[in-house]
Amino acid sequence: MTRQAVKMTRLRGRDQLDARLEALGITLPVDDAVPANGPLAQPYVLGGASSSERRIGNRFAVLPMEGWDATPEGRPTDLLRRRWQRFGSSGAKLVWGGEAYAVQPTGRANPNQLCSNPESERDLFELHDLLTAAHAASESGEETGTGTRDLLTGLQLTHSGRFSRPQGSPAPRIAFRHPVLDARVGVTSDAALLSDGELDDLVGDYARVAKLAARAGFGFVDVKACHGYLGHELLSARERPGPYGGDLAGRSRFLRRAIAAVRAEAPGLLVGVRLSIFDLHPYAPGDDGVGEAVTSDHRPFGGNTSGRDVDLEETVALVALLVDAGVSLLCTTAGSPYYNPHCQRPAFYPPSDGYRPPEDPLVGVARQLEATRSLKQHFPELAVVGSAYSYLQEWLPNVAQAVVRNGGADFVGLGRMMLSYPDLPTDVIAGRPLQKPLVCRTFSDCTTAPRNGLVSGCYPIDPEYKRRPEAKRLAEIKRLADSEKRST
Ligand SMILES: Cc1cc2nc3c(=O)[nH]c(=O)nc-3n(C[C@H](O)[C@H](O)[C@H](O)COP(=O)(O)O)c2cc1C
Ligand code: SF4
Repeated sequence: MTRQAVKMTRLRGRDQLDARLEALGITLPVDDAVPANGPLAQPYVLGGASSSERRIGNRFAVLPMEGWDATPEGRPTDLLRRRWQRFGSSGAKLVWGGEAYAVQPTGRANPNQLCSNPESERDLFELHDLLTAAHAASESGEETGTGTRDLLTGLQLTHSGRFSRPQGSPAPRIAFRHPVLDARVGVTSDAALLSDGELDDLVGDYARVAKLAARAGFGFVDVKACHGYLGHELLSARERPGPYGGDLAGRSRFLRRAIAAVRAEAPGLLVGVRLSIFDLHPYAPGDDGVGEAVTSDHRPFGGNTSGRDVDLEETVALVALLVDAGVSLLCTTAGSPYYNPHCQRPAFYPPSDGYRPPEDPLVGVARQLEATRSLKQHFPELAVVGSAYSYLQEWLPNVAQAVVRNGGADFVGLGRMMLSYPDLPTDVIAGRPLQKPLVCRTFSDCTTAPRNGLVSGCYPIDPEYKRRPEAKRLAEIKRLADSEKRST
């Protein structure tokens, strides 16, 4: 394990947590007590509107998480339906995206990603109905008497760009030639570059799927701009000539055009953006297996010139453009799960193709929370959802409440914790203690499994995955990876 990380389970009381934060030189807001119906249970009124449709019942959001478990045609399976039902019944009143939905089959990140094609159109109706029915029947729907009136649901629209793998092997479509990432995905020539005309056409795909999402009942779509996928990669395409590169106006043109097209095609639909508000250089394991930055001249979006730290100047300018374009919800995230996962989803145990954390994962959590707080200060009217809370484990409710109470974000987004312990929001709002056996310990199996072609899920904790045949295969893969690492 990395030189610096200390397991969260060893930080037993407030004194120990404070001492650890001090030793790391970071701060996190932490409340001592989380009462029933406290700040996290308070409704949020979107855009100050009085309409009940825009009232979101509490401050928990489910973050989008795909399961690599759709059919090869991009259609739901029972596992996928189960995940959406669990998101619906979690108690969170904002469901951000469900999971990444590719607007065209060639833009899938894996051959089992949900995607748009003529046969799959009705599936969005089914998924939305399943999610809302589960919500209505849950404690947060039934007992509060609000049903689904204060539930806001969104669909995340994506094109995987550089990380497209529609048939399983890399089929990258890139915004610009990257000095480090090209080699990682096998780009050797300009043939992989998306032309301006292809980007123009893609805008229409976003609008078409948004219209369908609105008909299926979703309250908003997320025009995804994070994690190294196309919408994000374009934001740092400084060297790209033409309308979609160069200055910030050019680099954000695709995003702004997609948003404008969505609004024109589906006028009643709200628009959100999930944005990697900062990025760092790609990382790779060093000789001791600990992650090290692979530096280059390329400046990551939201990173400083060294590529090792955050600089939000351009991010603030971009968000101002997005607000002008009509975006009313922003979900903050960072980096990419492919090339700097420690910054995107802080974890004690890295995925099999990753590297040992170069910093205590608490530092990664604090970096995202602080950057989100800073953006929220700039845009008090914008509904802001934060991410990267799962690593906090037993401390999650205390930090989440303090963040919301202090205006560091309007919503607390939950990713991995929703796979291991989907009822956490309901328990927290009711003032019940956390169910410790369900707490995500950041084992990263939900990332390791799909990296090896298996469905994603919480194999260590969720009984449904524990008993699947893939669990054995995953254990074998991890054993092999460990022995390979020991022998090198
Ligand atoms: C298995 C898995 C699948 C994910 N899929 C998506 C996705 O489809 N879209 C997205 O924006 N983020 C995706 N993420 C990132 C999460 O939404 C979230 O940002 C990340 O896990 C950090 O939050 P956490 O600390 O609560 O887990 C995924 C994460 C995991 C673990
Ligand atoms: S596999 Fe389960 S415990 Fe591990 S990171 Fe994913 S959700 Fe958390």
